[in-house]
Amino acid sequence: MKASISLTQIVLSVPLLLFSAATSYPLLLDNFLQCLPNHVHASNPIFEAIYTPSNSSFQSVLVAYIKNRRFLTSDTPKPLAIVTALHESHVQATVICAKFHGLQIRIRSGGHDFEGLSYRSDVPFVILDLFNLRSIDIDIASETAWVQSGAILGELYYEIAKKSKVHGFPAGVCPTIGVGGHFSGGGYGNMLRKYGLSVDHIIDAKLVDVNGNILNRKSMGEDLFWAIRGGGGASFGVILSWKIKLVRVPQRVTVFMVDRTLEEGATDTVYQWQQIISKIDKELFIRAQPQVVQNDEDEKTVRVTFIGQFLGKSGKLLSLLTKSFPELGLKQEDCKEVSWLESTMFWTNIPLGTPPEALLNRSIPAELFFKSKSDYVKEIISKQDLENIWKQFLKTEGMVMQWNSYGGIMKEISSTKTPFPHRAGYLFKIQYFTLWFTEGTEATDRHIRLAREMYDSMAPYVSKNPREAFLNYRDLDIGRNPSNETNFQEAQVYGSKYFKGNFLRLAAVKKRVDPDNFFKNEQSIPPFD
Ligand SMILES: Cc1cc2nc3c(=O)[nH]c(=O)nc-3n(C[C@H](O)[C@H](O)[C@H](O)COP(=O)(O)OP(=O)(O)OC[C@H]3O[C@@H](n4cnc5c(N)ncnc54)[C@H](O)[C@@H]3O)c2cc1C
Ligand SMILES: *[C@@H]1O[C@H](CO)[C@@H](O)[C@H](O)[C@H]1NC(C)=O
Ligand SMILES: *[C@@H]1O[C@H](CO)[C@@H](O)[C@H](O)[C@H]1NC(C)=O
Ligand SMILES: *[C@@H]1O[C@H](CO)[C@@H](O)[C@H](O)[C@H]1NC(C)=O
Repeated sequence: MKASISLTQIVLSVPLLLFSAATSYPLLLDNFLQCLPNHVHASNPIFEAIYTPSNSSFQSVLVAYIKNRRFLTSDTPKPLAIVTALHESHVQATVICAKFHGLQIRIRSGGHDFEGLSYRSDVPFVILDLFNLRSIDIDIASETAWVQSGAILGELYYEIAKKSKVHGFPAGVCPTIGVGGHFSGGGYGNMLRKYGLSVDHIIDAKLVDVNGNILNRKSMGEDLFWAIRGGGGASFGVILSWKIKLVRVPQRVTVFMVDRTLEEGATDTVYQWQQIISKIDKELFIRAQPQVVQNDEDEKTVRVTFIGQFLGKSGKLLSLLTKSFPELGLKQEDCKEVSWLESTMFWTNIPLGTPPEALLNRSIPAELFFKSKSDYVKEIISKQDLENIWKQFLKTEGMVMQWNSYGGIMKEISSTKTPFPHRAGYLFKIQYFTLWFTEGTEATDRHIRLAREMYDSMAPYVSKNPREAFLNYRDLDIGRNPSNETNFQEAQVYGSKYFKGNFLRLAAVKKRVDPDNFFKNEQSIPPFD
């Protein structure tokens, strides 16, 4: 553990133009801290939840849920305090006192935000950290569960499987993601084609609003309940917990992973993959994952890994693929029949056979620096264009692309049912994930520049007007506001990419529930109607 950071260091790290204001932070902080106990019952003391830089654990609590090393540097702005809520009333008190004293809050559940917006801001702020609020209460009889925001996906999957071998939940593949951020941003995973997004299976929620009241679906109203299922929770309130409807999964599912390099015909296979991928059985999801590798001659080449999951047995999968996608050449020995819980480990590269308790591990340090971007593809990319894409891709460093198949039930859900608009008419989504291990601005600048060049070169092949993006793959390059104000025109730039026509409806909900724009960040929804 590193030594704690003193308040003077924090004050000195703010930009010079703010220097005169800086001296007032300790006062702001004092007022905030003194306010908190007035809003909680004595039986739920809040002092045990408060960390300021003078507490020796401040730094370790801060970094425990920083998942991108890019924001684990000395010049990343630090919060004045962290409130690690131990009780729902601590969340209410934090909202009430921060609002009253004009202090910004950043809400953090699992800390996976790609741009670190849950734990950094350019103005004085406190982190409202929800990792302690993580109970999971499953009722198999009604096939539902209440899940608190601070629970991670691995815990949810593990707890479901403990109760039932034939239930699961459609959500992301990384077990340490927090459900607070993940569900409120949509939430997708390898059951997307069968069951859609996480938000398609949320039936109730508890939220602390801007006045510190706890609301549920009935008391918040259908418009706010709509907004938090894909519109990003952080614009509207603090989600305490979600009620989800579980989905049915078979006792055994089939997973596989096969590779093709360019020399082995990857271009043809990817071309064929595009033809079938949005039309094939809903039980099947195949991700194509291009990556730059060295070939036998020690030259750079592209290798595409096809990672698949079939909600059924391998025999059925093989006959399906022999008919519709023979180019993949999938063989019986490539297939593994596993339980649904084991499939969640397979997708995150935990070796099969590892005890499932590995999914509960929260102590995974952030080792990677990364930058992510996203795109949506609606039309088949020709073989010639795929060749052009590989040429540019070979110039990147440390980039992995994930091409995630769409179609299936996504085609049947209206683009206005939730704020997440990318439903019918998409072949696949691209994630561009660039990672590196070297500290310093030189490495950071180079990797980000190469990632942006790759993204620019993809413009002809992806959605246009607007060029769409996925909120959970947050990317500040596509438009942003300053930390402390939300300009509508600027918000419309990123808002239309994330939400298309749903942006204005989100802004109207925001106007009703948070007209003074207390809940804000660089990509939040502005109040407008
Ligand atoms: C390694 C990795 C793998 C990923 N894989 C997938 C994937 O398979 N599918 C997918 O859809 N996404 C994936 N993501 C993206 C992930 O879903 C988003 O980053 C998500 O927002 C993370 O949620 P969190 O609670 O961990 O993050 P946080 O950083 O805590 O929060 C993210 C955002 O939500 C807000 N927020 C958090 N909790 C609350 C709350 N309780 N109330 C209101 N607002 C809140 C934060 O303020 C912030 O704006 C992945 C990310 C990483 C780093
Ligand atoms: C942090 O320090 C303050 C002041 O000493 C103390 O009241 C508080 O309980 C400490 N926080 C924790 C979580 O230990
Ligand atoms: C959790 O993961 C980390 C990093 O992979 C590892 O060092 C640690 O031993 C794991 N903890 C447990 C309890 O498995
Ligand atoms: C936002 O902060 C900047 C300095 O970072 C300041 O100049 C500006 O006035 C602030 N805006 C609001 C609305 O507080």
